[in-house]
Amino acid sequence: MLEKITVVGAGNVGATTAQRLAEKELARRVVLVDVIEGVPQGKALDQWESASIEGFDTRVIGANDYAPAAGSELVVVTAGIARKPGMSRDDLVRTNADIVKQVSQQIKQHCPQAIVVVVSNPLDVMCWVTKQVTGFARERVIGMAGVLDTARYRAFLAEALDVSVEDIQAMVLGGHGDTMVPLVSYTTVSGIPVSQLLDKATLDKIVDRTRNGGAEIVAFLKTGSAYYAPSAAVTQMVEAIVRDKKRLLPCAAWLQGEYGLSGMYCGVPCKLGARGLEQILEVKLTPEEAAALRKSAEAVKETMAAVKI
Ligand code: APR
Repeated sequence: MLEKITVVGAGNVGATTAQRLAEKELARRVVLVDVIEGVPQGKALDQWESASIEGFDTRVIGANDYAPAAGSELVVVTAGIARKPGMSRDDLVRTNADIVKQVSQQIKQHCPQAIVVVVSNPLDVMCWVTKQVTGFARERVIGMAGVLDTARYRAFLAEALDVSVEDIQAMVLGGHGDTMVPLVSYTTVSGIPVSQLLDKATLDKIVDRTRNGGAEIVAFLKTGSAYYAPSAAVTQMVEAIVRDKKRLLPCAAWLQGEYGLSGMYCGVPCKLGARGLEQILEVKLTPEEAAALRKSAEAVKETMAAVKI
């Protein structure tokens, strides 16, 4: 158990994450920070009032400043705005980059030893902004996307096969967006290659649905985007770090030549433990998967070009 985890952004993803972290008692205190007056305080108090029923002793505290967050060992960044009608993708990138810049300066000042898990979108670019502004080593700035994309992929496969979702092993790599790369060649069902259990047409459909998983939820909700699965994905990453589990999870990591890519964030297989990102695993990809990863990386680089740090 850590002493303190801070979650920046008390919106849907941030607040649900705070609740999940508290319910798992991953820290003695969870601090929820947001710019909107009263919202983090109200949500934090509401969550703390559920403690006696749910059986956790983690204190959830809300704030509009970073004083209560000082010294946090881990910070989750979910601050940002959703795309509004008429707003271009580049405008959204610049607006969220400004928000993440501000947040990163506060993290650098108040939580200089923290491991940072970034969730704000566009994910790979916001990870880069965080790393640049904090100046933290790559071990301490990691992005959440692949765990969520993989969870969606596993859910769709379990449905198609009518088997337990727990028996599906898979990884989705690449940038977080419609160019993501589900690794079908490494997808197994209790060790059995999935290609032996599902035909190509069905698999292609599932891969496509995974790539559009975020948009599918937005189309239902109309205002707002997914948060139950995203917050569960962040919590899995935080738990791997807090409990030093050395889990192998697909995360956005700063690349320095791995997979032929460098100077950018992209989703790759990572080992997460007490030091944060402890290792990047380089696995062999099929020529199609390697090409898809390169294409995905190009999309991330294009988005990076819209931002000045
Ligand atoms: N500091 C702290 N909080 C901020 C700041 C800031 N500078 N700017 C905005 N926020 C807060 C907003 O006030 C809001 O409460 O960030 C919160 C975002 O919450 P939502 O709008 O509910 O968005 P949410 O669904 O939680 O998604 C947050 O995660 O998955 C990604 O794409 C998603 O980038 C988005 C982020």
